[in-house]
Parts: sequence; structure tokens; C-alpha cells
Amino acid sequence: MKSASALIALTLFGSAATAQTTVSKAPFGNTPDGKPVDAYTLKDKALTVKIITFGAHIIQIDAPDRTGKDADVVLGYTSMDGANSGYIADNKTYMGSVVGRYGNRIAKGQFTIDGKQFQVDTNEKGNTLHGGKDGFDRRNWTAKQIPGGVELTLVSPDGDQGFPGTLTAHVRYTLTGDKLKIAYSATTDKPTVLNLTNHSYFNLAGSGTVLNEVMKIDADRYTPIDSQSIPTGDLPSVAGTPFDFRTPTPIGARIHADNPQLKLAKGYDHNFVLNPPHTLTHPAVVVTDPGSGRTLTVYTTEPGVQFYTGNFLDGTFTGQTGKEEQYDGFCLETQHFPDSPNHPAFPTTVLRPGQTYNTTTIFQFTAK
Ligand code: GLA
Repeated sequence: MKSASALIALTLFGSAATAQTTVSKAPFGNTPDGKPVDAYTLKDKALTVKIITFGAHIIQIDAPDRTGKDADVVLGYTSMDGANSGYIADNKTYMGSVVGRYGNRIAKGQFTIDGKQFQVDTNEKGNTLHGGKDGFDRRNWTAKQIPGGVELTLVSPDGDQGFPGTLTAHVRYTLTGDKLKIAYSATTDKPTVLNLTNHSYFNLAGSGTVLNEVMKIDADRYTPIDSQSIPTGDLPSVAGTPFDFRTPTPIGARIHADNPQLKLAKGYDHNFVLNPPHTLTHPAVVVTDPGSGRTLTVYTTEPGVQFYTGNFLDGTFTGQTGKEEQYDGFCLETQHFPDSPNHPAFPTTVLRPGQTYNTTTIFQFTAK
């Protein structure tokens, strides 16, 4: 049993930690149909994080290097409507958004729940990517300020993009010290499938390529893909392959290796099967930029992470430091495995009425 004084100390510590974070709100343009979009700025001693209601995007994370100098460590835009440089024009890269209802791919947009077949919108080569054409990344979420952050809410109606059930989803972004926490929760009124994640592109140097940033992923296995980037269902060992990031290795060290999986995806665009425990104290991924010393540590309750090296960035869009080119950012989309609804051996993504979906990911930024 905790002593009364320990409880008081915990309470004081908890409130002191969040009291340091200030949250402010400002207008950030309009949606394509003229609805106001707001930007929330979360500021603590170490970090400044900006989030917009449109797509629940993270648009900026300022983090210090080893000398205390800040850089924005995520790719993003400064406006909604910039030509080739705004969140409306860019409907391809999912730049910093929350993707849903189903992050990553569902083969042919088809799945079965309780013997009932569903067809959802197919928006990539006859498959569904990130929830269909009008995914959660294109919606204006409602927002309310909470201690240390912002809570975004989206009600996705029954039949949205073909998915069954009215789904009420919440994403809570909170900042404490050097940690940005993203807590997802959701309920449904009919059985459905759900896989929410954040699609930020990190660049710990602040600009240029990420190929020399050093990656460690605590995963013994990964899910290889077919020619359409759908998991084959195998869960091979990473040992002896360019997918072995169990010891820290530069992202670019083997990205051009003669490996069929890397050729299919033009780099890394694969789900890694995270070793347990899937807890918020066990580092799942650690990335360091040797130049600046900036280090990102990822903690998650999810069983997988999509490590994507921005293979399809092709200079079409211009972010805050110039054109976004191939390998200018990496994503760590903590998630359930792609196409799980069609792979009964993968951890289930079915959510039923009466259940509450709860997953949490923490991005911690330090410098060494
Ligand atoms: C995910 C997918 C990639 C790509 C990006 C967005 O990471 O796995 O194949 O679609 O999103 O461009």
C-alpha cells in the first residue's frame, strides 16, 4: 500500500510536470469547404509541438541539439492552402497526420467480420491505403484543450469509406518535459476494424537526408511484402538481412543492398514485429543523428511499427526547409500489422461494441 506522503508527493509531482506545459490556440486557415482549422501549440522547457485540427496533423516539433540549438524535427507545411506546400494540396504523403480508420493496407479493400463481408474504398492499386480516399487525415477533428495538451475527436459514421459501425475516436496529444505522448481511444456501435497511428516524417538534423541517422529497432522479425506492399503473412527473422536493426545502424548503410524486399519498396517500407514488452517504459526504437546528437526514443503499447524511409517523396511538395525529396524523412508508424483483417494469425484489429480501443505511443526527444 502506498503511504499517504508518497501519494501526496506523486500528486504534486504530477501536477508540477503538466503545469510547465503551456497550451495555446490560433487560427490556421480553412478546410477545402471553408471550415476553420485551428493550430494548438504545446510548449514545455524542452519542446515546442504544433498540432492542427485538420487531419490531427503534427506540423512542427522544435527540439534542441546537444548545444541547446532548436530545429524542427518533423517535415511539414506552414499553411493549409499553399500551392504544393500545404495540407490541402498534399493528399499523397500523409505528412504528420493521424491515419485511420485503418493505417496501412487492406488487400483489395475486403475483409470479413463474423462471416459478413465488407468492401471498403480502394485508393491504391486496388487496395486500401490508410483508410481510403477520404481517410481520417482529411477530416477536421473537433478539439478541446486538456491539461498539458489537446484532445481531438472524430465521429466516423457507419459506412464511412465502407467501414461498419459509427466510430468515435479520440487522440490526446500531451507534452511533459521531453516526451510527447499520443493516446488513442475509440468505441464503436457495430463490430469494425481499427488501426490508428501518426504518420510524422522525422528528420533529427532538421533538413537534408536521413540516411546517416542511426536506427535501432527492437524487433527480431518483420512482415515481408508482395509486389503491392501487402504482407505475405510470413514472419521471418531479421537476422543476416538489411532488416536487422537490433544493433544501431545508419539508415542508409544497407538501403541500396541487393535485397528483393528493399527493391519492391524502393527502401524501407515494412512493418517490424516489436519484441515484447509493449510498454511505455521499454524503448521500441531509438534513433540518433550523429551530427546534432538529437535522439528520438519511441515507446509504444502497439505490437508493430511501420518503418518507412520516405521512398515516395519526389520533390512534388515543398516543406519548411525546401523540396521534400526521397529519404528526407523517416516514419515510425506504431501500429497493428498491415492487412491484419485478412491474416487471422496476426494480432486482431477487430473492435466490438462495449470494448474500448486504447493504444499509446510516446516520442521522447533528448540530445547526446
Ligand atoms: C505508409 C505506406 C507507404 C506510403 C506512405 C505514404 O508508410 O506504407 O507505402 O504509402 O505511407 O506515402
